[in-house]
Amino acid sequence: MRIVLGVGGGIAAYKVASLLRLFTEAGHDVTVIPTEASTRFVGTATWEALSGNPVSNSVFDDVHLVNHVRLGHEADLVVVAPATADLLAKAATGQAGDLLTNTLLMAHGPVLFAPAMHTEMWQHAATRANVETLRGRGAAVLEPASGRLTGADSGPGRLPEPQAIFDAAMALVQGRSDYQLPLAGRTVTISAGGTRESLDPVRFLGNRSSGKQGVALAVAARNAGATVRLLAAHMEVPAPAGVEVQRVETALELREAALAAAADSDVIIMSAAVADFRPGEVSDTKIKKRDDTADPVITLVRNPDILQELVEKRNASRAGSGQLVVGFAAETGDSQGDVLAYAQAKLQRKGCDLLVVNHVGMDKVFGQDSNAVVILSRAGSEPQEASGTKTEVSEAIIRRISFELNHVSPRA
Ligand code: CTP
Repeated sequence: MRIVLGVGGGIAAYKVASLLRLFTEAGHDVTVIPTEASTRFVGTATWEALSGNPVSNSVFDDVHLVNHVRLGHEADLVVVAPATADLLAKAATGQAGDLLTNTLLMAHGPVLFAPAMHTEMWQHAATRANVETLRGRGAAVLEPASGRLTGADSGPGRLPEPQAIFDAAMALVQGRSDYQLPLAGRTVTISAGGTRESLDPVRFLGNRSSGKQGVALAVAARNAGATVRLLAAHMEVPAPAGVEVQRVETALELREAALAAAADSDVIIMSAAVADFRPGEVSDTKIKKRDDTADPVITLVRNPDILQELVEKRNASRAGSGQLVVGFAAETGDSQGDVLAYAQAKLQRKGCDLLVVNHVGMDKVFGQDSNAVVILSRAGSEPQEASGTKTEVSEAIIRRISFELNHVSPRA
């Protein structure tokens, strides 16, 4: 396929090098047309080397080839990334001051804009109108992803991940209408890691959760276009870029954070390993060992079941009936029943919409990079298996969540 890749003048231009690689590695012939402004971010040498084709944005280079007409005519697909506010405005008003805008006017095949700009520019009435105009003419304009922007603030306006733009472009070429990022405009709250239940100022009861699965889910949800809120208990891995992070320590702190986040979340994924019990008393001072006293005894009390509370809260609110609540279950089988039988019972008991089931042993799952899960649905569809790296498993879980959200009616 012949692809024209227009590059706008935004900081996200550097990510487009990866997009170009995805196109060329899939065997496509790509001509890159960077705007003048974009070459202040990424130089033409990068585009020439990666595409293997000459690069220009002037209508006065190689005039005999009539590039300003030919490139648009011959392209099977035109992708503009990052589509800046300026480029969207130029395209909407049909300007033709350079080779890229000429090509857009001459394009015969599908055109995909992947916007990236500050949230306020994206939400400005002028940009909204330009996007509507372009969509009205049949161009595809992706919703930008949400998350951390170039400065300290965050919101919608991030360039979607290269793989997401690539997938959208391929869907568009196949004539599919589901080219938008599956979680665009959605807020996904994910709890990750293991809670730590204090005994005294220096000691706690913890668990083996590394947080890897929760972090991989956060990345997959972010890449699918969601605004992601990560409720991070103790994790051995760093939180990913482009997600909002709230640190929590104990189950009670996580409960408070999760119930608050639930108020405006489309999806809540409880992948954290929450301690079922906490010490009944937390000593203000370090518990000392003394030779003259008996061995200390720790009395445990039950922690609230956060997942169950989230489901009850969702079910009690009519407005929240579209919310999807996803639980995790780390199960082992025993003589009384196998892993799936226990998991089915847990799904019914907790009432969540999906339950992602891990089979655990001391050497399995915790801290490992790979995983195999079964996704059970309360609605009763067939159990779905997913295996591979935690990234692959997370992508499968997020695909399933997107499907439930976009194609299955309210759950409560
Ligand atoms: N969970 C929760 N609050 C708790 C305990 C667990 O929200 N106090 C959530 C976990 O985040 C996970 C799911 O519930 O999504 C299943 O956790 P698990 O510990 O496997 O289930 P339990 O209900 O504790 O069942 P059991 O210990 O009997 O296996």
